[in-house]
Formats: sequence, C-alpha cells, structure tokens
Amino acid sequence: MTASELRDMYLSFFQSKGHAVISGASLIPENDPTVLFTTAGMHPLVPYLLGEPHPSGKRLCNVQKCIRTGDIDAVGDASHLTFFEMLGNWSLGDYFKEEAIAWSFEFLTSPQYLGFRPEQLHVTVFEGDADAPRDDESVAIWRKLGIGDSRIYTLPKEDNWWGPAGKTGPCGPDTEMFIDTQPNAGAGRPGQGGGRFFEIWNDVFMQYEKKDDGRYVPLLQANVDTGMGVERTVTMLQGRTSVYETELFAPLLAAIGDGASVRMDANAEATKAYRVVADHVRSSVFILGDERGVAPGNLGQGYVLRRLIRRAVRYARAIGLKEGFFKPLAEGVIDGYKAVYPELGARRDHILMELAAEEGKFEKTLDRGTAELGKVIENLKAHGQTTLSGRVAFRLYDTCGFPLEFTEEICGEQGLAVDRVAFDKAFDQHRDVSRQGMEQAFKGGLADNSEMTTRLHTATHLLHKALQTVLGEHVKQKGSNITAERLRFDFSHPDKMTPEQVAQVEAMVNQAILDKLPVSMSVMAVEQAKENGAMALFNAKYGEQVKVYAIGGYSLEVCGGPHVLNTAELGRFRIVKEESSSAGVRRIRAVLE
Ligand code: ALA
Repeated sequence: MTASELRDMYLSFFQSKGHAVISGASLIPENDPTVLFTTAGMHPLVPYLLGEPHPSGKRLCNVQKCIRTGDIDAVGDASHLTFFEMLGNWSLGDYFKEEAIAWSFEFLTSPQYLGFRPEQLHVTVFEGDADAPRDDESVAIWRKLGIGDSRIYTLPKEDNWWGPAGKTGPCGPDTEMFIDTQPNAGAGRPGQGGGRFFEIWNDVFMQYEKKDDGRYVPLLQANVDTGMGVERTVTMLQGRTSVYETELFAPLLAAIGDGASVRMDANAEATKAYRVVADHVRSSVFILGDERGVAPGNLGQGYVLRRLIRRAVRYARAIGLKEGFFKPLAEGVIDGYKAVYPELGARRDHILMELAAEEGKFEKTLDRGTAELGKVIENLKAHGQTTLSGRVAFRLYDTCGFPLEFTEEICGEQGLAVDRVAFDKAFDQHRDVSRQGMEQAFKGGLADNSEMTTRLHTATHLLHKALQTVLGEHVKQKGSNITAERLRFDFSHPDKMTPEQVAQVEAMVNQAILDKLPVSMSVMAVEQAKENGAMALFNAKYGEQVKVYAIGGYSLEVCGGPHVLNTAELGRFRIVKEESSSAGVRRIRAVLE
C-alpha cells in the first residue's frame, strides 16, 4: 500500500464512521505564539477541543502536515523525521474511549483495511499518577478486543500523556499502538529504543486542561484526538525496516546518490548523512512552500528553517554533494507531493530561489570558517593541546559566522574539546560591549506620513531584506528617501546588480506582498532586538527601548514607522532603476503600482 492509498483509505474509513473530512492547516500556527510550527493535527483544533462548536460537526478527520524539530538529533535512525504527515480523527465531546480504540483496532487489523495481524500489535496505556488515575478503561477495551496482557504495557506521563507543545491547554492520557518488527526477538517492550517496536498511532483522551499554575482541571467535554504517522505506517505496511525505504523517500535518496561521491551503504555515517539530507530537504521545501510563507532568518520559524538548510549543507558536504545540490532534490520533493499539497507547486520558484540563496550564503561562510578552523586545529595539535579555547570559537562565530555546533563537531572529529563555558562568557561580554556602544538615533528619510509614503516605507523593508537575501549579508542600508511617488534606497554593494538579480529581488518583494504578511510592531530593549536578529540601521543611535517592526516571518527591523498593517496593501512592486550612488554604494529607485 502506498502513502497515497493509505491517506484515501483512512479518510474514507472515518467518513464511514460519520466523520467530516476537514482540510489540513498551515505549518505556521495561526494566532498562537506558544509554538513555532504545527506539531500535530490537534493544534489548529484547540478552540474546539475547549468547547467552541466546530462548523463541520463533532466528528472530524484529516491529513495534517507537521514539523517537529525537538528530536532533530535522532533524525537518521529508522523512524524520526522533522517533517511528517499525520492522519487524525477527532471526537469533540462525542464518542470516547470505547469507539476510538475499537475503530483504531478495526482499521489496523481488518483485512478490508490495513490487515496487520493482531499478534503484531502492542499497546501502551497510562499508568496513573497524582494528576490522573490509571487508565483501566483502555486496558479493559484492549483486552476485550483480544490483545493479551503480555502486549499491554502501562507507562508514566512522559510516555503516555499528550499535551500540546505549549505548556497549557487540552491534554490527557493516551494509548499508543506499536507494530513489533521482530516478534521472535524475545523480551523487550515499546519505548525502549532499539527500533524493534514501531509506533504508528496514538489515541489521546483529552479530558483535562492544564492551567498556567500547573493544575489539571477536567474539561467540560471529553474529546478524542488521534494521530497516525503516514511515513511510519506505510513503512510497516510495506514490510520495510526504515521510513527511507518507502516510495516517499526512495527517489530522493536515489537523487542524492546521483550527486554524491560516497555510497549510502558505505558506512553508518554515510547512511545517516543521506537520511539527514533527505529529511531536511523535505522539511525545508514544506516550510518554504507553506501558504504562510517563511524565509530563512535569524528568529522564530525562519531560524529553524535556516538551521535545517544549513544542517543539510553540512551533511551533504560529508558525502561529497556539490554546491547547487538542493535544486534537483527540492524539485523531486515538489513534484512528488504537489498533487497532495498544491501550495508546493504554486510556490516552486520561490522555494528553489530561497534554497539556492541560503545554500550559497552558507557555503561561503563554511569555506571561510572551515579553512580558518583547520589552521587553528593544526596549530593546537602541533603544540600538543587538546582544547580549543572559547575565545577562538567565539571569534569564528562572530567574525566568520561559523556556527558553534560545527566548531564542536569538527573539533570532536579531531579528538579536540571546545571550551564551551569560555565561549558563553565571550558571547555575553560581547553583548555588553555592543550595548554600551549603542547611541541615540532615529530613522529618517520619510517626506511625510501620507498613505502612499507609508506603503513605500513598508516596501523599503521588504526590499532591504530581499537585497540581503539575493546579494548577501554585506548589504546594509546607507540611506533612504521616500516620497509619495517613489522610494529611493542606497545600500552597500560593490558591483552593479545583474538584470537577473534585479528580477529576483523584485520577485521576492512581490511574493511577500502576495503572501499578505501581517506587519506588527513591538517595543523592546535594543539588546533584545539585536538578539532577535533585527536589522538595525547605519549610524543609527538607539535609546534603551526601540520599536521593532516584523513583517510576517520575513523581515525584522528596528524602525520608527509608520507602516501598513499588511503587505497585501502594497500593490505591485517595481524597480525603476539601479545605479551607482557613490563608491561601493548602489542606489535603487522603485515604485508601487
Ligand atoms: N496529538 C496526538 C499526537 O500527536 C495524537 O500524538
């Protein structure tokens, strides 16, 4: 059975049990600052789990794209992924444990559906604690369905309790279903690691709400929230031992093999590197291709995306993939999924462009940092030393942009330690110094506060960010002059922009406009703004508290405003002219049409 058949079969099974099929949500949660990404299908349903009536009724099901990066270090084993698809069915105060478990069992074991043998199935149940009792009801239901006591395990909250990724909200005990892949292996139980038991489905009984003060109070309605992992279930259905052997990954891994100089089965490191690249490319494509549009950046979702892309680059290098490797891999992911997720096809150019831009930026950073670090390591070894000082690690980070985790990995491979404590100290000191060095300032350049000037001002932020993305981090604002007719923006860049670069910048700005990104302002301490990665202006002098304007997850800039409320208000952005302003400074004139 393919993933595509599984999705269809699941939805029609639950439709036959009176469920309405609802659409999956964006990967970027709406109106919820407690989580960066949608981590499960229940997430967009929180208001309904708390009692608000859902327009489609009390029985719902869907397919939801999810991102979870909490287990990023486990990626490369048989089953952990940072992006995955979850099949879910929900009861909003309607059916409860009896039906939920019976339907899970039927769908898993009936020959008409997935047809797993009941003996392959092992289940875990909540063992009870001071907050909630042992889930004896679920144990009794599983027994009645024929699951022997030797295949029912009771485990504590850390295993058998589901709450949303944020700290508060609806939650409750759950029962998890596992397939035993090595029935003759003797003793062992789910949750012990080792890959023998593959978790494929989780039925959560949401009876409680966790409050701010840590108390669990009963919910007005008892809900069911379930999640079945598409990739893992398909793996089991196809009799495979890892998610990477299914049709969801095989073409991607083959494409990686085409460009790599090391075979996937060469050794354990190569296998892991292939898998990490495949996983991270897939996640990056889905984040960039999301309806809500996120670009790589230094904060929030943008930072997670940047980290996934950069991690992929690092593992890609280990197996000899050359610069530009993202493109064919990302194209494969887009083509493989666009029928189910049309947003990927619609945003194809944007996805490919952002990946190439971020890859290029990071390749340069890495080349510089790796060479620099190589020299340092050689020197240390020549002097018989075993630890890289925190000061040097910080210099690599601060001046070369070389991530500490890479310094640690490369040093680790060479048997050297990194003085992390000293690194942290240097990091803090640096922050204090830059804080002291900040002076008072404001952003000028606006002719008036008219509506059109305001629009062009927001467009200037988008332009600034697009220029940095397309041309590089060296791009800094050198001046800005905005009237109601046009914007004029001066920035540091050594060369004339090529027509392609101009077109790319225009396209990025227009994409941000099409994406209808909300513009929000917050006041924060200047050091916080810096830490969040806000762009701060040339010669600008700052007070302690500054206004920071965020345009979706796209741009973050210290600025006095004013701005529009949503980029949808801007209209079409066009660059009229790109010319020299002075040595090393270029000037762009642009309009909104
Ligand atoms: N929300 C539950 C989970 O993600 C079903 O496991």
